[in-house]
Amino acid sequence: MARKIVIISGKGGVGKTTICANLGISLARQNKRVVMLDLDIGLNNLDLLMGVENKVTYDIVDVIDGLCRAKQALVQDIKYSNLYIMPSIHSYGKSRLTGENIVKVVEDLEDFFDFILIDSPAGIDVPFKRAVLGANEAIIVVTPHFSSIRDADKVVMLLNEFGVNIQGLVINRLRGDLVLNKEIIEPKKICEILNLELLGVIPEDDNLCFVNNKGESRIAFSMLAKNLIGDSKKIYDCTEKYRGFLGFLRRKIKKRV
Ligand SMILES: Nc1ncnc2c1ncn2[C@@H]1O[C@H](COP(=O)(O)OP(=O)(O)O)[C@@H](O)[C@H]1O
Ligand SMILES: [Mg+2]
Repeated sequence: MARKIVIISGKGGVGKTTICANLGISLARQNKRVVMLDLDIGLNNLDLLMGVENKVTYDIVDVIDGLCRAKQALVQDIKYSNLYIMPSIHSYGKSRLTGENIVKVVEDLEDFFDFILIDSPAGIDVPFKRAVLGANEAIIVVTPHFSSIRDADKVVMLLNEFGVNIQGLVINRLRGDLVLNKEIIEPKKICEILNLELLGVIPEDDNLCFVNNKGESRIAFSMLAKNLIGDSKKIYDCTEKYRGFLGFLRRKIKKRV
């Protein structure tokens, strides 16, 4: 039976979809069967990010309307045969997308996968709650900014009300040079504020707009996947390349850019 994990944040634009896609790939690379459910209805772009938008025939509403079965709507990833996407709809309408319907879709899929990753919309309104209902675990995404951390705090309270098991925190877009320069809040402090365990750190990476990138974030996602599976407990160290004499020079150069 699949683990059902919602990727969530209080603030929008912190990297939920990016993390969902890259985590899905990393889990698939560890031979897990993964399906990613795009529940950011209307603003969805998981299919685009994964480069499969032309392969979409049915979407989640077609499943709910009984036009096809859940498995029929899945789109297989181009590279990994054990990775799938359940596409979302591109507009709001008089859809029958209720929490209960989403739970049913998840139930139809859970026997065939190891992980169901749910990409959620930002905020704490109805669409957020709908996404949470399908999950029993949650990953909270923040960036190292106070507004993102404060909004995450509200989400934590709501998730507790829903009885969802919070797996931990992913700090996205962390710049090691700024951490060492003490110009941004460090991961340990963020975890203390939110009283959450650190599950992963993803560096700021210009290559991340392309999934499957070969940049440094690929290592960070692999560590995140292993932490989630329970294989290891390593957190990516964004500061490493900025330490020592060479690192000091890198920091100086980065500051000028
Ligand atoms: N670690 C990162 N490094 C650089 N850019 C990132 C990173 N994570 C996300 N982004 C960029 O931030 C923007 C918002 O990310 P997205 O995943 O769509 O956020 P959300 O789903 O939370 O709204 C995108 O343009 C994405 O490419
Ligand atoms: Mg998104």
